[in-house]
Amino acid sequence: MDKLIIQGQSKLFGDVLISGAKNAALPILIGSLLTSDKLTLTNVPKLFDINTTVKLLQFLGVGISKDEDSIELIAKSINHIDAPYDLVKTMRASVLVLGPLLSRFGKARVSLPGGCAIGSRPVDIHIRGLEAMGAKITIDQGYINASSEHLPDAKLLGAKIYMDQVTVTGTENLMMAATLARGETVLENAAKEPEVIDLGNCLIKMGAKISGLGTDKVIIQGVENLSGTNHRIMFDRIEAGTYLVAAAMTGGEICCQGVDADQMGAVIQKLQETGVKIRIDKDKITIKSDGRLKAVNLKTLPYPGFPTDMQAQFVAMNAMADGVSEVTETIFENRFMHVQELVRMGAIIDIKQNTAIIRGGEELCGANVMATDLRASASLVLAGLAAKGETIIERIYHLDRGYESLEEKFNQIGAKIKRIN
Ligand code: EPU
Repeated sequence: MDKLIIQGQSKLFGDVLISGAKNAALPILIGSLLTSDKLTLTNVPKLFDINTTVKLLQFLGVGISKDEDSIELIAKSINHIDAPYDLVKTMRASVLVLGPLLSRFGKARVSLPGGCAIGSRPVDIHIRGLEAMGAKITIDQGYINASSEHLPDAKLLGAKIYMDQVTVTGTENLMMAATLARGETVLENAAKEPEVIDLGNCLIKMGAKISGLGTDKVIIQGVENLSGTNHRIMFDRIEAGTYLVAAAMTGGEICCQGVDADQMGAVIQKLQETGVKIRIDKDKITIKSDGRLKAVNLKTLPYPGFPTDMQAQFVAMNAMADGVSEVTETIFENRFMHVQELVRMGAIIDIKQNTAIIRGGEELCGANVMATDLRASASLVLAGLAAKGETIIERIYHLDRGYESLEEKFNQIGAKIKRIN
């Protein structure tokens, strides 16, 4: 298995081109199931999770061709309506095929995703939403079996759905299902994440009738068919945030290119509170840091709140910043797996319920550490970049799921990261 070896304390200087967003690309690729026409996507990041999604769609029968930066998908002759456990267990977002398959083909069978490193992550809201649209759903041997074949023309029915909790993939699944349903669906307490909006905009280009994107009430008027389109995937705001925190921690000046600062408000504001200088231009964010930072308190929340996907990176930063800070995780119950590894690098952190209390100001020291999930792994890379000496990170396949060309991009701006086998 690959490992990363990081020689710490190099200052970072230069430009980083931010890739397309994993969490927008995944649902949009899956959105291809809603039409028999060709969907062409550009700015698709080269990531392990994208390969898994492509494999799943190919298994279902979607014709897929790829070149350097784009992917063409044609879901004309679907020959399976099931997402097997082997594919779903490696990537929870596979559950997103449920809504599109059910609404276009009248049935779907998708393995339950089960638990994962960051918490139990149920899909009850996805299921209840589809039931409200008339689907019959049973759970059998770890699979969700969904059918709308008892309904006229096997079509789902528009419904008013209140989601108990803000859920990103739940909103995406139900929004996709509703595009081909009969009548109007109203999703209340919908997720407002930019990736949900990106999916919605792509569906609108495919002919869907959707209003209220970016608000907590999304309204979808079902249509007969969707057609093909071209769509450019939005930038990855979490990748951009990760590079900005790296520069804050190591010192130096970097410019993240291909971004929209308006979609990163909470992260930028928290970085400014640390004392770094941030300049915002069209499509660019530049950060300048002398590496002396003030620790910041924060609480993760649904968008536009502070993203849970940036929590681990900020915990690493607070560990070396001056002052005592509190970081509260409200989205996932078990998302502090990075803490015990950061402690091995010299961080002083206590966990009290869902809050990490971090006594900052410690110099981090290189160590052997283990990645446990995607963003936890990113926080270990950041800690390794700021630490004295050498850090060896094992189990880095998590990083390959979500960060395109991570070591190449970091090395281009002055980091010293080597991948070994
Ligand atoms: N939840 C339920 N029932 C449901 C669905 C969600 O109780 O049916 C709960 C979850 O357990 C969690 C909360 O609702 O406590 C929010 O979870 P959400 O459904 O929003 O998470 P997700 O859609 O599974 C997406 C991202 C995650 C990101 C979260 C939160 C994708 C593919 N994944 O997950 O990204 O952390 O939203 O923003 O979009 C990552 O990229 O590293 C990652 C984990």
